[in-house]
Amino acid sequence: MDAVRLSAESKFEKEIQALIAGDKSEKPPGWAMTPRAAETYLMGSDKPVGGVKITPKYIGDASIIQVAIATLASDRALMLTGEPGTAKSWISEHLSAAISGTSAYVIQGTAGTSEEHIKYGWNYAMLLAEGPSHKSLVASPILRGMKEGKFARFEEITRTSSEIQDALISILSEKQIAIPELGEMIHAKRGFNIIATANTRDRGVNEMSAALKRRFNFVNIPIVDDLEQEIQIVLKRESELRSDYSVGAQPPEELGKVLVTVFQELRKGITRDGKIKIKSPNSVLSTAEAISVLFNGGILAQSFGSGKVTGAEIARALVGAVAKESQEDLKVLKEYCETVVKTRTGPWKEFYKAATEKLN
Ligand SMILES: Nc1ncnc2c1ncn2[C@@H]1O[C@H](COP(=O)(O)OP(=O)(O)O)[C@@H](O)[C@H]1O
Ligand SMILES: [Mg+2]
Repeated sequence: MDAVRLSAESKFEKEIQALIAGDKSEKPPGWAMTPRAAETYLMGSDKPVGGVKITPKYIGDASIIQVAIATLASDRALMLTGEPGTAKSWISEHLSAAISGTSAYVIQGTAGTSEEHIKYGWNYAMLLAEGPSHKSLVASPILRGMKEGKFARFEEITRTSSEIQDALISILSEKQIAIPELGEMIHAKRGFNIIATANTRDRGVNEMSAALKRRFNFVNIPIVDDLEQEIQIVLKRESELRSDYSVGAQPPEELGKVLVTVFQELRKGITRDGKIKIKSPNSVLSTAEAISVLFNGGILAQSFGSGKVTGAEIARALVGAVAKESQEDLKVLKEYCETVVKTRTGPWKEFYKAATEKLN
């Protein structure tokens, strides 16, 4: 298909089918695959399953994924929390694709999320013509998930109003939605559950009511601390993006290392050898942001450079990413370049030259 972005269940259909066929042990009711197969889908496997290689989706601690999966098999809903760009939405999408066969039932939480978005609304033209009926009812992703026994995803749940959060309590505790206009009660079929995500940078998490918190198991998705591991994530996801979009030049591994080092040092406010303290920018320097900077660097090199990605393209892409947040952060980046990057050799030299040109 010619879609810009395929859903996880389409893109990894072969892997999902192989995992379903490969594990015949008992599944939780309504699940397409066993918890163990779902873990393998998320974490990947060295051994092919039914002749199909299972690629890792989440790179990190398997126990996080195990707790998430176990929660989904219980009567509680799953809440993935963490800093922006730590793969919360990514995990939510892949868990839904693997276990429910669809990741499409998703609500994006905003200040404007209304009860219609989480329960049901009406097609008003049809409502006027025919009155309330199954045809004029517009089911929310949650209602559809309930009817079909599949997961619904609720992104950025803490951005919604407290009224919406309250309405969710009753959905989660009673596992049913009343439709008085039709004189009906929709009961959730087995297999239904909710995966919510929340950013800890939004102040919302603490303000969630105790009653709502109790309906969830919280699983924190950590920022990757380990340099090698973050490099691995960034290089892998960047190469996937490059092949998805058929654009960009392949950056050499050492540049990935330079970039992730910059991110980790700025995030922690200290150089890796622990010798120089630096200021941290306010910008979110997440793994996801590093992936995007590296990918953009590759496009710059292919479109406007020599076709080879160098420190210069990375620096240009990085300055663009930091600039969108604030002018203040550009100063922080400049200081980092002068105190740290300037003294380093190899690909750091091109990086320094291009970054200072852009920053001055
Ligand atoms: N540990 C990780 N393993 C695999 N991919 C990761 C990891 N951390 C970040 N990513 C990538 O970062 C990108 C953005 O993640 P996303 O789920 O949108 O972040 P969040 O919802 O936490 O803000 C995704 O493309 C994802 O693949
Ligand atoms: Mg997200």
